[in-house]
Amino acid sequence: MDFKTQVAGSAGLAGVAADALVVLVGGQAVPEDLATPLADVLSTAAKDGDFAFKAGHTLYAHRVAGAKAARVVFVSTGDGSGKNLRKAMVAAMAPLKAGGTKTLAVALAGAGAWSAAAAEALVGAVAEATYLYRETKPSAAPASKLATVSLVCAKGDAAVLAAGLRRGEAVAAGSNLARECANRPGNHCTPSFLAEQAKKLGKEHGLKVEVLDRKDCEKLGMGSFLAVAQGSDEPLKFIVARWNGAGKADAPVVLVGKGITFDTGGISLKPAAEMDEMKYDMGGAASVLGTLKAVASMKAKVNLIGIIPSCENMPGGRAVKPGDVVKSLSGQTIEVLNTDAEGRLILCDALTYAERFKPAVVIDIATLTGACVIALGHHRSGLFSPDDALAAELLAAGELALDPAWRMPLDDEYDEALKSHYADMGNVGGRAGGSITAAMFLKRFTGKLNWAHLDIAGTAWKSGQAKGATGRPVPLLTHFVLARAS
Ligand code: BES
Ligand code: MN
Ligand code: ZN
Repeated sequence: MDFKTQVAGSAGLAGVAADALVVLVGGQAVPEDLATPLADVLSTAAKDGDFAFKAGHTLYAHRVAGAKAARVVFVSTGDGSGKNLRKAMVAAMAPLKAGGTKTLAVALAGAGAWSAAAAEALVGAVAEATYLYRETKPSAAPASKLATVSLVCAKGDAAVLAAGLRRGEAVAAGSNLARECANRPGNHCTPSFLAEQAKKLGKEHGLKVEVLDRKDCEKLGMGSFLAVAQGSDEPLKFIVARWNGAGKADAPVVLVGKGITFDTGGISLKPAAEMDEMKYDMGGAASVLGTLKAVASMKAKVNLIGIIPSCENMPGGRAVKPGDVVKSLSGQTIEVLNTDAEGRLILCDALTYAERFKPAVVIDIATLTGACVIALGHHRSGLFSPDDALAAELLAAGELALDPAWRMPLDDEYDEALKSHYADMGNVGGRAGGSITAAMFLKRFTGKLNWAHLDIAGTAWKSGQAKGATGRPVPLLTHFVLARAS
């Protein structure tokens, strides 16, 4: 899909040539800058009670006399915020994505001029609206025919908007890669599959990719990661992918993604209901691959390293058992009190491994706790960091990218729950504050690192009718990394 700008001619929006025209309507009444015949259609519909000036409300009009585009969709953007613009565009796409629309023009009415951020939000909305998982479903609807989307703008705005579109396309490509990986069933998306995806990405975008196997991890002493992997016959992979966009002396941003390709809970087995959704437990890993793709495709002048510890969590004959004590790469020992708290067990060794890169910052991303879903629901990811400046930077990136997070506490008092009789720590801290004690566990492995943790258990996928991976938090991470590029 191609995104570009188009300058409206003297005939105004009615003269815009495209298979379909989406008019994003701002304000509480028919916009004054909307001319006949489109203004008449909208005001009649509003009078008839068929259009409301509320974000996401749409009106479809076919073959409006005097309009060049065969299809016109009016959609209200409400207060015109980025969030509502995105919501409006997703709604406007509903009647267009399955039809004959190949070229689409999008215009603003009653909402001032386009901004780069609005252009970027629009690309994200179109990508979200047209994405459909088909890999293992031959009967899925055919791919949308939509080939070009152009923003109708003033001549002087084209260059700024082009930059917004370019960023939007990079983020969308990264989000779609994350969605494609995470939507794949566990028997397709294995640790080996993720390693292949990383290598493919390396070839496409010039990343250096290294994949460690079990023997390598044994030699290094990743006893904690190995303990999770040992219950499964599927070989583990420890993936390291590097984008060198800046000078050698530039300390890298390191992203660590949880890559559990299926989480049964292990011996502390999960209940059967909805266990299929544990194929998404590699959403953190998927977001690391997606962010690498977005950042590398923009050729950003930044050094970015993705680390993905990947395995299954299975209750095999050699599986780690409750009460087992394992030795992490850091040398600290862990009593595995609950084998279902496996994410932290693989991440802790990856965090220790990250130290060797002398990173400027390390962010781990994980579908880590059900408790985070209880705390924050499905809208905001949980953000944990002892560093106020880093937390603020990540929160700001999330707001700009329309991929928001919310900061959670890391007071020392929460650490007490991790005390163990038999090891330096236990791997669980009871039900109270479960997402925080999980973060406190990770914190024990971050030493002097400038570190943040994103718990995406509630945001990486949707359940129910619209079941599927969201590609989050690729937008947040990409914004964060690009803001650090020189
Ligand atoms: N992958 C799960 C977390 C999860 C649960 C994500 C539900 C999305 C939805 C994680 O490995 C897990 O099982 N966590 C346990 C931790 C507990 C045993 C301390 C949990 O949240 O129940
Ligand atoms: Mn688990
Ligand atoms: Zn898990």
